[in-house]
Amino acid sequence: MAKPFPDHPNLRGGYAPIQMECTAPNLVIEGEIPSELEGSLYRIGPNPQFAPRGQYHWFAGDGMIHNFKLDNGRVSYENRWVRTTNWKLENEAGESLFSPLNPMQNDPSVANVRTDGIANTNIVWHGGKLLALVESHAPFEIDPESLNSIGPWTFQDKLSGPMTAHPKIDPESGEMLFFAYNADPENRVSSRMAFHKADKHGNLVHSEFFDAPYSAMVHDFIVTKEHVIFPIMPLTSSMERAMGGGSLYAWDPSKNSYIGIMPRDGCSSDLRWFEGDPAYVFHPMNAYNDGDRIICDVCEYPEAPLFPHADGSKPDPTKSTAKLTRWTFDLNANTNTYHREQLDDTISEFPRLDERYTGLNYRYGYFACSVEGGAIDNRYNGIGRIDQKSNHVAIYSMSEQFAVSEPVFVPRTERSPEGEGFLLATVYDAAIDKSFLLTLDAENIEKGPVGKAMLDHRVPFGFHGNWRPRIS
Ligand SMILES: [Fe+2]
Repeated sequence: MAKPFPDHPNLRGGYAPIQMECTAPNLVIEGEIPSELEGSLYRIGPNPQFAPRGQYHWFAGDGMIHNFKLDNGRVSYENRWVRTTNWKLENEAGESLFSPLNPMQNDPSVANVRTDGIANTNIVWHGGKLLALVESHAPFEIDPESLNSIGPWTFQDKLSGPMTAHPKIDPESGEMLFFAYNADPENRVSSRMAFHKADKHGNLVHSEFFDAPYSAMVHDFIVTKEHVIFPIMPLTSSMERAMGGGSLYAWDPSKNSYIGIMPRDGCSSDLRWFEGDPAYVFHPMNAYNDGDRIICDVCEYPEAPLFPHADGSKPDPTKSTAKLTRWTFDLNANTNTYHREQLDDTISEFPRLDERYTGLNYRYGYFACSVEGGAIDNRYNGIGRIDQKSNHVAIYSMSEQFAVSEPVFVPRTERSPEGEGFLLATVYDAAIDKSFLLTLDAENIEKGPVGKAMLDHRVPFGFHGNWRPRIS
């Protein structure tokens, strides 16, 4: 018998999971969905099937996929849970058996189960496969049309450990570059890391292994045309701390930030570590080579949010928001420090770009943002666009009853110039407890929606999504 969900901030309001899967062939459209948009917007986020065991964390819910399929102005929608081993065993039992962030709280009946994760963080189309990702495990393959679960994908058994939820796809070669932390298969927590390359067909063709200066949550990484960059920042991990009843992950500013830079075609012995003050980054916007310099634009927090402090002190709410920040590394300088400069003072997260410019000098970036104090608790009520040439930031803002997801950029056509296209995001309307798909003209976001596709339920606050153009 399914038990009631506890009263937890990440299980109520727009965070609350939905308990159904559905197919809606014709969403009601307000305005117009541009006919150039032909394909699928896949989004994914945590949607626990049952009331959690022990303390819940937003990162710990079962992954649910939401697929908005756009076709000549029409929009259909489907949602499906990812049927991981965890999900299937819990579905049979009718209750939670796993505590994904603290396995010591797992039900004894699953003590020897080899879990394949919760696949709740990102969903990526590459090499003819749709992969649902969570950074603690290998990818989980999904049928791109039916959303049926196929199973873990380990690159023909070449991937022995986990994979980040934030791979980068090279716009020129089609290669997928990715990394892993906690990459020692013998230890749940370690400073061991891996860097991998898959060719455009999805074959794993190269792996490098190395040790970070300390073990930490490394949510994302950064690529340029010539380098890969690993930010090790002090959201530290400690099994000892967890065994003592503390948090497996905690903010520990007694440690500095270390940013590892390696030539893309180099090896781990080429890694150079730059050192800076403690700070935290979940997501970079983009990065590029500029002569002997590397420019990285990131959403940087003074302190990692969502986790306790390692020393037991209280988190400072004024430090729990991110702002767009530029890191500059001078590869020729005789120093291992780097320069930091805030680009804009808008509270921002979920940065994206026109991904035809991934790793390249670029002009436009997009992000979810908090406007006029709205959107507390990791909610955002605006979408921003920064023009890196003029430093101008344009914002489409909504009232506090609305919360937006990460905006995904889709070019108008494959040949359109940078930034000409649309932004797609889901928006939660707290007044009616329902969500809609928002379409903005990426060059005129202040003008508001071009079109909306209305759902009659909410899409719980999730993490990431990607566009897959229709394959004709
Ligand atoms: Fe992320």
